Amino acid sequence: MEKLVVTGPTRLKGEVNISGAKNAAVAILPATLLIDGICTIENLPNISDIQISCKILEALGAKITWNNKNSLTIDTRNITTTKAPLDLTRKFRASYYLIGSMLSRMGEIEVGMPGGCKLGARPIDQHIKGFELLGANVTVEKGSIYAKAEKLKGSPVYMDIVSVGATINVMLSAVLAEGTTIIDNAAKEPHIVDVANFLNTMGADIRGAGTDVIKINGVEKLKGNATYSVVPDQIEAGTFMLAAVATQGDLLLKNCITKHLESITAKILEIGGNVEDFGDSIRVWCNKRPKKANIKTLPYPGFPTDLQPQMGVVLSLAEGTSMINESIWESRFQYTEELNKMGAKITAQGKTAFFEGVEKLSGAPVYSSDLRAGAALVIAGTAAEGITEIYNLEHIDRGYENIEEKFRNIGAKIERVNE
Ligand code: EPU
Repeated sequence: MEKLVVTGPTRLKGEVNISGAKNAAVAILPATLLIDGICTIENLPNISDIQISCKILEALGAKITWNNKNSLTIDTRNITTTKAPLDLTRKFRASYYLIGSMLSRMGEIEVGMPGGCKLGARPIDQHIKGFELLGANVTVEKGSIYAKAEKLKGSPVYMDIVSVGATINVMLSAVLAEGTTIIDNAAKEPHIVDVANFLNTMGADIRGAGTDVIKINGVEKLKGNATYSVVPDQIEAGTFMLAAVATQGDLLLKNCITKHLESITAKILEIGGNVEDFGDSIRVWCNKRPKKANIKTLPYPGFPTDLQPQMGVVLSLAEGTSMINESIWESRFQYTEELNKMGAKITAQGKTAFFEGVEKLSGAPVYSSDLRAGAALVIAGTAAEGITEIYNLEHIDRGYENIEEKFRNIGAKIERVNE
């Protein structure tokens, strides 16, 4: 079993290169199934979710050539099956994007029920509603989803809830449909815009991505023959911004889009940290104990749920009592029990947690319950006095490229050890 061993405390200092966005990349890869041709994708994060996506695409008949660890060329001219490997698709969340893409491309798909982080109930009713409005028949049986359509036809789709996955999935299913699809109450996250930009580069006609109304005029074919670079990861950048504050350090984050970081910047300033915005890089530093704050997670441009645990580490070290209200996921406070083992004073009940700030954390063995919880524990271990051992690394490896190397480069004493 692998574990990360972190010896703290360290004030993180230096530069970090932000990787491409996981949640854009895991949608862009299945989106290549819409192309009857070849394309190159750059700035892919080198993480296990991408390796699994590639294995699934290859099983469907795609040919992938890696140009380097962050770039691949994919040929999707010859798709040979409509049954995706069930074991692999059950391993991660974004396998649901195969439904939109394959319905468009092949008119049929069978995938395992998507897995991913255990954050409470993760229904996909809005995805299914969208596919059905475009004319597909969808059944869920024996842990798999079957979807079939003779011919997809554009339709208005009103989302009852703001959903990243459903917005992207309906977009994927509408690109090659006959006529126009209008998604109302769409999610606005940077990765939604990035998937739309990718598809438009390949010949799609999508307008309004990044607003709450997206209009997709169906086109006959996507041509491919183009190169696309994945948007920088808003959540990885935010993770390092909060690591700078939690450790009272000073970090310059390069290759990010600071516009995507405004909600995090605002909160860091509110709690007494400092931020200097250079447009495509951002410096964050803090030389005193942060102050308390209240946070509510919301869809973009609100404070992202995927940074809630990392912010939880900062607030557990802040002066005074802070409150976080998690409005997206039912069960995203599992990390608080681990932080309490390190000396934090957090009381979590339902979707609300109270953080009575302590002056210091102390190292302990801790278990990562999901991807962002894992990142939060790495930050906590770096800020804490003594040795922290972090287990369940498979969660962290799903979404952070080379986390220990990036932390080591900015001064953390962190090793991956095989027990
Ligand atoms: N929801 C429904 N019905 C649906 C879809 C969603 O009720 O059909 C609910 C969910 O239960 C949740 C809310 O709507 O309460 C938002 O869910 P959303 O669909 O936006 O989440 P997702 O697409 O499953 C993506 C990211 C998550 C991130 C959320 C919210 C990917 C692969 N995952 O999930 O990322 O937390 O959006 O921003 O893009 C992570 O990276 O650590 C992660 C969990």
